Amino acid sequence: MAETIMPGGGSSESAITLSHPSSDGTPPYYLAVHYWWAYIHPRAVRLFERQWLVNLILCGNYHRLRDSALVELGDAVAGMTLQVACVYGDLTLRLSQAAQIRGGELDVVDVLPIQLRNLKAKLPALAPVQLLAMDSTALSLPDAIYDQALVFFLLHEQPVWYREQTLREVCRVVKPGGKIVIVDYASPRWWHPLRYLLAPVLALLEPFALDLWRNDIVHWLPSGVTLALRRKSFFGGLYQEVVIRR
Ligand SMILES: C[S@@+](CC[C@H](N)C(=O)[O-])C[C@H]1O[C@@H](n2cnc3c(N)ncnc32)[C@H](O)[C@@H]1O
Repeated sequence: MAETIMPGGGSSESAITLSHPSSDGTPPYYLAVHYWWAYIHPRAVRLFERQWLVNLILCGNYHRLRDSALVELGDAVAGMTLQVACVYGDLTLRLSQAAQIRGGELDVVDVLPIQLRNLKAKLPALAPVQLLAMDSTALSLPDAIYDQALVFFLLHEQPVWYREQTLREVCRVVKPGGKIVIVDYASPRWWHPLRYLLAPVLALLEPFALDLWRNDIVHWLPSGVTLALRRKSFFGGLYQEVVIRR
């Protein structure tokens, strides 16, 4: 059931709702074991909610990747857009502004209430956004309700089963013909110096990320949804944007 949380406990004019239909806030094991320092610990949120820091972690590519996803989502923000998982920085704010201008609506799901509260604090009270406490692997949402969906740097954090299940769920809730935009790591070219520097760091801190160096994202898509509309490569191949037509 949707519970409307008023900003600062106040105004009844808030358009932002925070719902808890399917998550009790218990993080999946990979978040608790491998990513507590980035998303779960209260100090983590305070530390990482700095766009310059996120940009540094993405080797100066945050703005390019964010803007490319926003352009790709483009005019369809007039309809219903789903963002799967919160992200640090102003990506969601910009997406919600685009939706608001065009009369669209944005739903954001995340399994961690602390992340949803952090996102809520970044959005204006009247933003047309619903924040949904849900696990991406088991969305309590009807089939085919979204015109498009964005999955921004989530898949590399997930072990294979969770990654496949997330993609299955995203494909289920997006309308046939709708668009799914995925932005994430990919395999850097052989000459990329970071190929050799980053591999051990990722292996240590983000143990499932190197899967995306070894396999194409379509590898984890459910059968019948294999058509990549477009692909873009960024920064010597270290990052990719894959656009799928549902
Ligand atoms: C999108 S990812 C990484 C984003 C990127 N590092 C950034 O902040 O720019 C991080 C988010 O994914 C969420 N997340 C991870 N697994 C999830 C799942 N199974 N269901 C919903 N949200 C999940 C985490 O709670 C966190 O808020």
